[in-house]
Amino acid sequence: MLAENTYNQPGINPSESLQILFFDESLSCISDDQFLDPEVISALTTHLKHLSNQSKFSPVCLPIQHTGSYALCVQIDASKTLTPYAFQATGVAIGKHIQTTDLSALHIVWPAPQHSVVNLDACAYIFKGILSSRYSFQAYKHDSKPSTKLTLNHQTTSPEALQKRFTQVTAVVTGESLCKDLMHEPPNRLTPANFADRIAALTECGLTVDILDEDKLRAENMHALLSVGQGSQQESRLACIRWSGKSQDLKDPICLVGKGVCFDSGGINIKLSSLVEMKYDMGGAACVAGAMKSIALLKLPVNVVGIVALTENMSGSNAYRPSDIISSRSGKSIEVLNTDAEGRLILADALDYACDVYKPKAMIDLATLTGAIIVALGHEYAGLYSNDDTLLTTLKTAATESASRIWHMPLDPAYDKLIDCPIADVQNLSVGAGAGSITAAQFLQRFTRDVPWAHIDIAGTAWVNSSTDICAKGPTGYGVSLLTALIEEYAK
Ligand code: BES
Ligand code: ZN
Ligand code: ZN
Repeated sequence: MLAENTYNQPGINPSESLQILFFDESLSCISDDQFLDPEVISALTTHLKHLSNQSKFSPVCLPIQHTGSYALCVQIDASKTLTPYAFQATGVAIGKHIQTTDLSALHIVWPAPQHSVVNLDACAYIFKGILSSRYSFQAYKHDSKPSTKLTLNHQTTSPEALQKRFTQVTAVVTGESLCKDLMHEPPNRLTPANFADRIAALTECGLTVDILDEDKLRAENMHALLSVGQGSQQESRLACIRWSGKSQDLKDPICLVGKGVCFDSGGINIKLSSLVEMKYDMGGAACVAGAMKSIALLKLPVNVVGIVALTENMSGSNAYRPSDIISSRSGKSIEVLNTDAEGRLILADALDYACDVYKPKAMIDLATLTGAIIVALGHEYAGLYSNDDTLLTTLKTAATESASRIWHMPLDPAYDKLIDCPIADVQNLSVGAGAGSITAAQFLQRFTRDVPWAHIDIAGTAWVNSSTDICAKGPTGYGVSLLTALIEEYAK
């Protein structure tokens, strides 16, 4: 449940509820003084100076003299490097503090619009932290406390500018929440068909949704996707989510493609560890669904199609085998050397379908594709591959705008030859040559029909195993803000 926002003009004096005030490193109040009582601020500053001698200054709640209300004092220390991440973490710290109270309304006194450190961008990141800290997944907890609705009352002398930014942030956080909800769902409930139903519900936001069931997948020759799913009792699906933001004919869309393996057991090459984490192997698909929701909420004037391949990689008696040679929608034959390298197989069909049916001007896929990207980049950066310099530049701009950490990785014919196969057109992994994430990207590239394409390996960033300053343990929503910012770039 997200906050409702109201924007106050100067002169309205908040009382009775918590007021949030910002201070700099020397404890001068930097909230817009048009909304402040100098006597109150002076008393608070004296109190803070006393406190800061004793302890590290995290948000601290102090009484406001004579009024009986309280101020939450938040320090922004410009002597440290202030990154978008740091501002977001400040917002999360504020949000966590609020959760310890029963408050239903907050008055945030933002710094004046011309403030050099806490500018409009910084305010947006702080706001994002406050909103996203309120996320939790309680669908299966019977004793969970219903979250109280929080009204955020923003005090600012530039309400229009702030409102525009905050509306954008709210849409992104809503998309991230959908992404996290889907990722939290357990695989016995979120089957591929159930995931497709959840996607079908996105028509509520003005999106058009088409679901291809197994009969339609067969008619489309999507045998790579079907092969991965054939060891499971659950049927596979392909879901297409369309946003005609520019024209009804959906001409020249951007295609966003996602890997949606609702559970990756490894198949016959069964995994020996991290099995509980493999319900998250649909993180790319969840991210595409979340981004499509954000894009629709923002009504971005761009044609966009989200395509997600949904399946389950199991080892039932009909499972595909290591050494099988399977066909794919593109017509290329693939030798399966390892059934655990399944993500690239389902994406091969989804990418080919995207190129052939939608003729996109650019295509971006997101996938929890390889453990190797975690070896290379850990959990901080996602790996980015592209065959097109313009798309690469646009994605890097979007990454900066959305504070998404991403690292450009190489594609090269030298890696490509590692997946040449003596008895089929391509094999699904390279043997003994390292470069596991790169060769996976090279495999995908063979199914992109030379469309400008980028692949983002989010295996390290889609979830965290312990909480960070901006995110609780579990799904991070990584990629939703990046894709939304990318579509905003195309809207310019
Ligand atoms: N879903 C995994 C990749 C993964 C691993 C994501 C760890 C998140 C955390 C993928 O399907 C996989 O199993 N990849 C194999 C490929 C290998 C068999 C070539 C891998 O990375 O080990
Ligand atoms: Zn796998
Ligand atoms: Zn997988």
